[in-house]
This record gives sequence, structure tokens and C-alpha cells, in this order.
Amino acid sequence: PPRGGGSDAAAGEAIAAPVDQQQRPVSSILIIIAMQTEATPLVNKFQLKEDLDSVFPKGAPWVRYYGTYKDLQINLVWPGKDSTLGVDCVGTVSAALVAYAAVQALKPDLIINAGTAGGFKAKGAGVGDVYLISGVAFHDRRIPIPVFDLYGVGSRKPCSTPNVAKDLNLKVGKLSTGDSLDMSPQDEASITANNAVVKDMEGAAVAYVAEMLQVPAIFIKAVTDIVDGDKPTAEEFLQNLAAVTAALDASVTQVIDYINGKCVCEL
Ligand code: ADE
Repeated sequence: PPRGGGSDAAAGEAIAAPVDQQQRPVSSILIIIAMQTEATPLVNKFQLKEDLDSVFPKGAPWVRYYGTYKDLQINLVWPGKDSTLGVDCVGTVSAALVAYAAVQALKPDLIINAGTAGGFKAKGAGVGDVYLISGVAFHDRRIPIPVFDLYGVGSRKPCSTPNVAKDLNLKVGKLSTGDSLDMSPQDEASITANNAVVKDMEGAAVAYVAEMLQVPAIFIKAVTDIVDGDKPTAEEFLQNLAAVTAALDASVTQVIDYINGKCVCEL
């Protein structure tokens, strides 16, 4: 289908590869992960090596790990640490930049954005659940002018993965992205309008870049905290981060094993 047209974009067209790329097995996967705690177990599991001669511009804190697993070339990129404050560069700005630079440098067949997320118990989410995402949008880009409103929401569909969801028995639901860990009443209204079961700080930004550069993308998000529960989000997030990361990494590994030897259209 044509890309980038106004009405297609507004309807949330699926992020798909050009047809020729869809018909051969995936050979190169780019994993984009925002936090070191989430990335390290996967780096170890796939025995990835850090690229010390960076493909990224001088000064960028972005880190690339690479290796071969089964028939797959795996690159895992992490936006690194803020040079002043020393914390992980979470959020949409770093996610979009590192996604853009990594796709340009590495030309992957498929992007996997993996990470933790807040979940809504009213929509069935529980701590430790891992979701395969069926749609992404932003919840903090409010532009109440016709058409700019839709641009702000930036609703997109990941590449279609019905077989992954079925065969691996993953939960499926929509993701809403914003640059805050907490949730304002206005954010909440947008998240509800987006029909999201989980909220994160990167997904829709990665989807924007994936669509622009025509790389199919999938999103795997594990729930560290319940947004509509009674625990303070930051505390619950930090308390559950390590344990939930283990669940996330197990699911990412399952998905990568599933992808091995298949083309994007078989997912
Ligand atoms: N990542 C983990 N928990 C989150 C939350 N509640 N909101 C946004 N991103 C998150």
C-alpha cells in the first residue's frame, strides 16, 4: 500500500517492509532498549559484544552490542547514559534519534522495541505480564487544531504478528507513549481514547522512525507497575524492575527463536 498519505497515516497503517524484503527470512534484527537494566540480560544471553569503534556520531552516548544467534545477526542498541546526569536516556527524543541512527547504519530487516511499561488493571494487565503490541500512539502531544490533532496522536500499527501472538501465547494490546513516568488527568483521557492497556516512554517514537524508514517493527512491553492501582508508580516501578526484566527477556528470546528462519510475512 502507498505510504505517508494523509488518510492512511491517520488510520494507522501497518508498518511493513517493501514486498521483496517480506519474502525472504529475516537475517538482521535491531533490538532497541531504553534502560541498561533491561538490556544487560539480553546482551549476556545472546553473548553480544559491545562495539567499541562506534558506528554512531562522536559525542552520542548510544551503545551498540552485536553478535550472531542461530541464523540471525543481532544488534542491540541502548541510548546510553545522559552525559551530565549519568542516568539512562529514556524517553522519545533519545529513542527516535538512536532508532534513526541505528537503522541508517545497520539496515535491519526488523526492529524489536522491548521494554517495561505501566499497565492498566481495568484493561486486564498485571505486574509481570508481557504484551505484544497491536497499536501505538502518543498521549502527550495535544494539538487541538483539525488534522494536527491526529498528527499529535501519531497512531500507528506495528507489523502484523498474528502467528507470534498465537503460537507464543502472548497477551496482545495497545500501547500509549508519552515522556512522563507519571500520568496527568489529560494524559489519562488520551490513553483511554487510545484504548491502551500499557503506557511507556518510547514505543510510538520508534514506530514513527520505523515507518519513515520503512522497516517493520514490533513492540514487546512488560508491566512493572499498575497505573490505575494504589501504589505510587515510581516506587512500584523500581521495586519490580529487575524481576519483570527477567520476564521481558524470556519473551524477547522466545520471539527471536520464533523469528529465526521465518520471513516477516510469516510472523
Ligand atoms: N515504564 C514502566 N512503567 C511506566 C509507566 N507507568 N509509565 C511510562 N513508562 C513506564
